[in-house]
Amino acid sequence: MMKEDSYLPLLLEVMTRAYAPYSKFAVGAVIRSTSGALYTGANVENAAYPQGWCAETSALAAMIMAGDTRLAEIAVIAAGQDICTPCGGCRQKIREFADPDARVLCYGPEGLRATYTLGELLPHAFGPDHLL
Ligand code: THU
Repeated sequence: MMKEDSYLPLLLEVMTRAYAPYSKFAVGAVIRSTSGALYTGANVENAAYPQGWCAETSALAAMIMAGDTRLAEIAVIAAGQDICTPCGGCRQKIREFADPDARVLCYGPEGLRATYTLGELLPHAFGPDHLL
C-alpha cells in the first residue's frame, strides 16, 4: 500500500497526456501492481466517439504489456466537481486482474477525494472464477 497522496504528482503528469478533444474531460490513471511497479494511462478519444477508451484501460494495457498480471491498487484523476470513479466497463476490466479488496483511489487536481475497494464499486461481480 502506498501513501495515498504520493500518487498525485504522477497522476497530474499523466493526465496531461490525455487525448480528449471531444469531451475535453482529461483523465489519468496509475496502477500499482502486486510486484510494486507503476503503470500509467490516459483516456484516448477519436472522431467516432464510442471508439475511445478510458485512462484505466490504457493503464491496464501497459501493465499487461509489461508482463505484470495483478493489480494491487489503482489511482484515477480528473478535474470537475464530482468524484471520478472508473466507469462500469473499466470496473469489469479491473476485476479481471484484481481482487475485490483492491483499492481504487479517486483524485481531483487538489488531491485525494475518495477511496473505495473494487468490491464496493462492483459488488457481486462476474469474474474469472466463474469460468473455472
Ligand atoms: N473516462 C475515463 O478515462 N475514465 C473514467 O473513469 C471516466 C471516463 C473518459 C472517457 C472519455 O474519454 C471521457 O472520460 C468522458 O467520458
